[in-house]
Amino acid sequence: MTTAGSRLDPWVDAYAARANAMRASEIRALFAVASRPEVVSLAGGMPYVQALPVDMLTSTAERLLKERGPVALQYGSGQGDVTLREQILDVIGEVGVTAHPDDIVVTTGSQMALDLVTRVFCDPGDVVIVEAPSYVGALGVFKAFECEVIHVAMDDEGLVPQALSEALERCEREGKTVKLIYTIPSFHNPAGVTQGPERRAQILSIAQSAGVLLLEDDPYGLLGFEGEPPRAIRADDAEGVVYLGSFSKTIASGLRVGWAVAPHGVREKLVLAAEAAILCPSNYAQLTVSEYLATQPWREQIKTFREVYRERRDALLESLQALMPEGTTWTIPAGGFYSWLTLPEGLDATAMLPRAVANLVAYVPGTGFYVDGQGRQNMRLSYCYPEPDRIREGVRRLAAVIEEELELVQTFGTTHALNPVTGSSVPSPDLA
Ligand SMILES: Cc1ncc(COP(=O)(O)O)c(C=O)c1O
Repeated sequence: MTTAGSRLDPWVDAYAARANAMRASEIRALFAVASRPEVVSLAGGMPYVQALPVDMLTSTAERLLKERGPVALQYGSGQGDVTLREQILDVIGEVGVTAHPDDIVVTTGSQMALDLVTRVFCDPGDVVIVEAPSYVGALGVFKAFECEVIHVAMDDEGLVPQALSEALERCEREGKTVKLIYTIPSFHNPAGVTQGPERRAQILSIAQSAGVLLLEDDPYGLLGFEGEPPRAIRADDAEGVVYLGSFSKTIASGLRVGWAVAPHGVREKLVLAAEAAILCPSNYAQLTVSEYLATQPWREQIKTFREVYRERRDALLESLQALMPEGTTWTIPAGGFYSWLTLPEGLDATAMLPRAVANLVAYVPGTGFYVDGQGRQNMRLSYCYPEPDRIREGVRRLAAVIEEELELVQTFGTTHALNPVTGSSVPSPDLA
């Protein structure tokens, strides 16, 4: 035993190197305060599960236990329940993906699929290319496996193909091994933007030419506010793309059921890795989802979710438009849960957060979505959970904080470096 490091943790020097890359978010403590009812939280990415009819869920659970209890309560297959895998084909058909049930691995949320794909592809030091900004939960996985994460610029249509090509060329020149290109093409977390069809084709073509696997993460694809769901990139390449999906946003995040659609060889590795980690995903959760899909109007329920989120998106955008000081900009999401806000020059979203929470409004500062300290001028605003009136009130409070902050900057210069944050860190689940 050693006295170095934290005196509270006698094991601090015994951890594996990868555990050192795992750090709790520096803003976690603040969010304990932010979850108090008087605070309007535009921070959490929690689906509004209250929009699910409770009677229907109760009867689904009751029927399942009565009719298939011994199966639901037993161990199952490492790859996942075969009936559910067949049903998942209907769900991914909505975004143009065709596959065989054998191509699907059911996971404990798509978060676990991110872990499995990284586990089977990445050695320490391998490069994963991600959008700038990117999903904090994926950054946590890549860091836990000691990958080098390289951010590539986005614009209003998501990942910029030219920037992707340049990053790949730079890695090649520097002798780096790029293992994955990780992208969230539809209703991006946290940026709120969506790749158009042409953009998707360009990105796929660049990945194919470079011989790098594309990891397509699509938990929000069916939650668009206009028209048909965007066609998945995987719909146009079954060999070069691993496609991740989830029932977290279309049914309930508490069930923890997601999936990966992968080429044959990759799928076999994912199943072995899953078995090593958890033996098998929860049969109870899988059969609940399966029963729900078989007996309930799930497409109608997704329409209900879309309506709920569209109304909240509108409340957010209208109040931002009405109240934000000049120089503030934000993205206009066509689906999903998030808008990405850029503060006026000189303002720092991380430094401002304690003042925002004191003013009873919370958001996630942009730095959490980068591994390299970018994002100080940004914040992610989630409109998925609070009622529209609360969102309006939250934006009113936030606008007041930004106005005050602008006055401070005008008087004293920049507010940067008040609360330095380095790199990304593991989010608490309700912030992911
Ligand atoms: C982009 C993205 N990927 C993956 C996940 C993980 O979702 P789950 O594990 O609940 O399926 C989330 C959750 O917020 C997400 O936003």
